[in-house]
Amino acid sequence: MTSQHPADIADGLASKKQAFQIPDGVIYLDGNSLGVLPKHVPARIAKVISEEWGNSLIRAWNTHSWIDLPTRTGDRIGKLIGAPAGTVVACDSTSINVFKVLFAALSLRPDRKVILSDNGNFPTDLYVASGLTRLLDKGYELKVVDPEAVKDAIGKDVAAVMLTQVDYRTGRLHDMKDLTRTAHDAGALAIWDLAHSAGAVPVDLSGAGADFAVGCGYKYLNGGPGAPAFLYVAPEHQDKVTSPMTGWMGHEAPFAFDLDYRPVAGINRMTVGTPAILALSSLHSALDVFEDVDMVEIRRKSVSLSELFIAEVEDKCPQLTLASPRDPEARGSQVSFRFAEGYAVMQALISRGVIGDFRAPDVMRFGFTPLYLSHQDIVDAVGILKDILETESWNRPEFKTRAKVT
Ligand SMILES: Cc1ncc(COP(=O)(O)O)c(C=O)c1O
Repeated sequence: MTSQHPADIADGLASKKQAFQIPDGVIYLDGNSLGVLPKHVPARIAKVISEEWGNSLIRAWNTHSWIDLPTRTGDRIGKLIGAPAGTVVACDSTSINVFKVLFAALSLRPDRKVILSDNGNFPTDLYVASGLTRLLDKGYELKVVDPEAVKDAIGKDVAAVMLTQVDYRTGRLHDMKDLTRTAHDAGALAIWDLAHSAGAVPVDLSGAGADFAVGCGYKYLNGGPGAPAFLYVAPEHQDKVTSPMTGWMGHEAPFAFDLDYRPVAGINRMTVGTPAILALSSLHSALDVFEDVDMVEIRRKSVSLSELFIAEVEDKCPQLTLASPRDPEARGSQVSFRFAEGYAVMQALISRGVIGDFRAPDVMRFGFTPLYLSHQDIVDAVGILKDILETESWNRPEFKTRAKVT
């Protein structure tokens, strides 16, 4: 008989697990990297392919409202991140959306030359920012400080503060409201990467006064591998900015085929080319699972799962060192532990059905997705981790060969 952890008995989200396809014998602690497939999505995609594409063909852009799918999906995401209808669009990748919103932010502060970020930011954001500064060639500087030093580094020369709210390695959570206020007090704008926040922690973009935001569709939003990302522009900026990629989907009248570019009013001006309907349909459909839950409930369970995980690991696996903030208020929905042979341990764990991931040089990352994890899963996962560490079953050549994706 399988055991049941006492905290699972009164768990109001427990039944949600049934909505997801979790392979037998798998405890999935990597929803922060690639979310699990909601069971209803394949049938939805099959319908989009065989009925909408198959039968309606080109007509489906109108008859099935494909043309509005980026904003319809954006509005659903907006509900999870405190963004009103018409402020979020689902499109492109997070990296591309960083480029677009950063360009837009810089254009609103033409007299300032500094982009401020931190060294806990996801590298693609920093790569994109430095690429944009080179491309603009107007003396912009990307200034990268420690996460704790961001607040004091926001000076009058800063055009945009560009941060990822939840650190991809440690789960450290920035105070969005406080840093956005500090940025505004200094006359700067605030850009937030919500890749590890959307669907995982309650976010209130409007309440925080954030100017721009981006994030991934394939992590906690369960949109599928390479799902479209999202992009938010605060209402007061929407008609003052343009995309650096002025493609026809952002045009006021794409089907007028005019030779000059005139940006459409509203969030659609940040879109570029033809939307990826199959991928967007998957993301749009996956968001159904959030319809009847609120982010506060998700957060409560996320904290409970991650606190249990830390307590169990520290009790049973003294070889590992906590890399995440101990205070749950200072963490997102993931917990990381350091171990010199962390890569091999993670491969050994995966071989036994406990799936997390690894970030160089020594970080073992575990994501907590309250919609499809139970407290018992956590206890069982740590039981397997303890066995792997005690028996040193990780110490085998096949667990030490690095794959392309870690
Ligand atoms: C914080 C953050 N931003 C951006 C990205 C990259 O997004 P993409 O590869 O979809 O452009 C990731 C990917 O994990 C991420 O964690």
